[in-house]
Amino acid sequence: LSDGPLKGKHILVTSGPTHEPIDPVRYIANRSSGAQGSAIATALAALGAEVSFVTGPADVPAPQNVRVIPVQTAREMLQAVQAAPAADAAVFAAAVADWHVTNAGDSKIKKDGSGLPQLEFAENPDILATVSQMKQGRPKLVVGFAAETDDVIAHATAKRARKGCDWIVANDVSPATGIMGGTENAVTLISDDGAEAWPRMGKDAVAQRLAQRIAEVLL
Ligand code: C5P
Repeated sequence: LSDGPLKGKHILVTSGPTHEPIDPVRYIANRSSGAQGSAIATALAALGAEVSFVTGPADVPAPQNVRVIPVQTAREMLQAVQAAPAADAAVFAAAVADWHVTNAGDSKIKKDGSGLPQLEFAENPDILATVSQMKQGRPKLVVGFAAETDDVIAHATAKRARKGCDWIVANDVSPATGIMGGTENAVTLISDDGAEAWPRMGKDAVAQRLAQRIAEVLL
């Protein structure tokens, strides 16, 4: 571990998509690559933090110098987050699926002429809200993300209040931006101090700037 300003701090990072099974061979997922979450974990570790990295099945490799806890589903992600040691800060960069299938097949669902499968859904636990609202052992700083396609600041500000997190990193993921799956990001940091728009920059640069800001709060 490097000897930076986050030495001795434990930071939890969630990243990647989740996969919600339909049966043993099929799942519901989303287009998150895990790139921003990996970059954040890397940047925090580079500042000396001990990082627990809870990741769904991402496209990008997990970072070095972090404790990787791989999961598949949102429910597993919540369990892993709750099992991790107490954190000084937590960054929720995962694109958690909103729903899971309650009647997932134990064996492969067959296309056997007996009609179309009727999937039933239940809401997944909200991991960010759960941690934000912890009565005991809440991290000093809880950071969420808000990927929006319209009214980005308004939706992200409302989300911050609803979930109870300290900061929201809001980004515009409309297809035209090329951000989802791309190497750049354009984010607005929403906190008690208001909305601070950062210029468009690489996901690594966003991660480094965010890690720096986290270090300032945890000093
Ligand atoms: O509600 P929405 O999914 O837009 O909120 C995004 C933020 O909440 C992200 O920080 C994401 O990691 C987190 N989240 C979560 N658990 C969920 C849904 C979202 O931790 N079930």
